[in-house]
Amino acid sequence: MKYVRSDQLLPGMVSLKSIYDQRGVCLLAANHVLTLPIIFQLRKQKYPGLYVYDEYSEFENLKQVFGEARRARAVKAMHALNIDQVIFFATSIVESILHMEDQLLDMAQLKENNHDIYEHSVNVAMVATVCGVGMGLSDFQLKELATTAMLHDIGKMAIPDEILNKPGKLTPEEMTLMRTHSEIGATMLCHVDAVNDEIRKSILMHHENYDGSGYPTGAKGKEIPLYARIIHVADVYDAMIQKRSYKQPFNPLEVIEYLMGNAGIMFDIEVIYSFLRYVVVYPVGTTVTLSDGRKARVVQNRQDMALRPVVVVLGSKEQLDLADDPSCYNLTIVAADCVFHEGDGLEPLGYGLSNSGVAG
Ligand SMILES: [Fe+2]
Repeated sequence: MKYVRSDQLLPGMVSLKSIYDQRGVCLLAANHVLTLPIIFQLRKQKYPGLYVYDEYSEFENLKQVFGEARRARAVKAMHALNIDQVIFFATSIVESILHMEDQLLDMAQLKENNHDIYEHSVNVAMVATVCGVGMGLSDFQLKELATTAMLHDIGKMAIPDEILNKPGKLTPEEMTLMRTHSEIGATMLCHVDAVNDEIRKSILMHHENYDGSGYPTGAKGKEIPLYARIIHVADVYDAMIQKRSYKQPFNPLEVIEYLMGNAGIMFDIEVIYSFLRYVVVYPVGTTVTLSDGRKARVVQNRQDMALRPVVVVLGSKEQLDLADDPSCYNLTIVAADCVFHEGDGLEPLGYGLSNSGVAG
């Protein structure tokens, strides 16, 4: 598969995933051959791009954790603040992940170009759940964790759109306002019976750093609730891999370096350890450069082998298992492209991780 920007889509390409608009209406079904009218429609709706099949797709092993239709309904439930439905979809994410053959989460599962804050929340719920599985949380805890993740940024409802989507760095005053979203979110859910104190406290503290440098309370270490510590990692991860109005996505190696470099500073080391085991570094579909100079496409990942996926060499279609094939032991991945963008004129790496102050 490959990700193709809307302005570069061609008739005859075949869509890999269904696409829904914010109201949950299907714009394009999966496995659909693109025609000119469809392409014009996607451009008109300002849809940034989509995954299509390519000549390497036959090698790829791509799982589907949370279908696009369910995702669209979950986002709608969050917009409507329908907490019972949010809990239902959070539970559904947990059950899907627990039923996977392995709990590896591929970035290609995550919604790309998710400008909507609740699309981001679904991604965070998926990443957090996988980390929670790796940390041995019970099913009950996982469902609470996923619910918390879905609701973690609900307080942004109260933040003006011009600040949320500002295409540039926030002023100190705007940043102060933005940072109130965690307290607003916790307060909004005060009288909701289905949301307990643990969930509320975790929403309040999802921007706390492990060393005490976060906000709003400056709590540190295990003073920060477990769900908040997990969501903090998942939140930063999704913010880094996505394109935003104020930044380009980081590439996978930069993301991993950032997370590992901040273990014990921003993040709980135990969460980072679980993240590195269960969230793949090079998602299926990533184009990588091998140490012998060849370019290859990642087609499969394996647990505990995050840095050594199965790849297919571009051009020759030779399949290389970097983990198991003895002839590949000397090969490493030295560079990787981002999956979700192919240059669109935005400044590279922009103004920091997130306008919500994810990085502090
Ligand atoms: Fe947040």
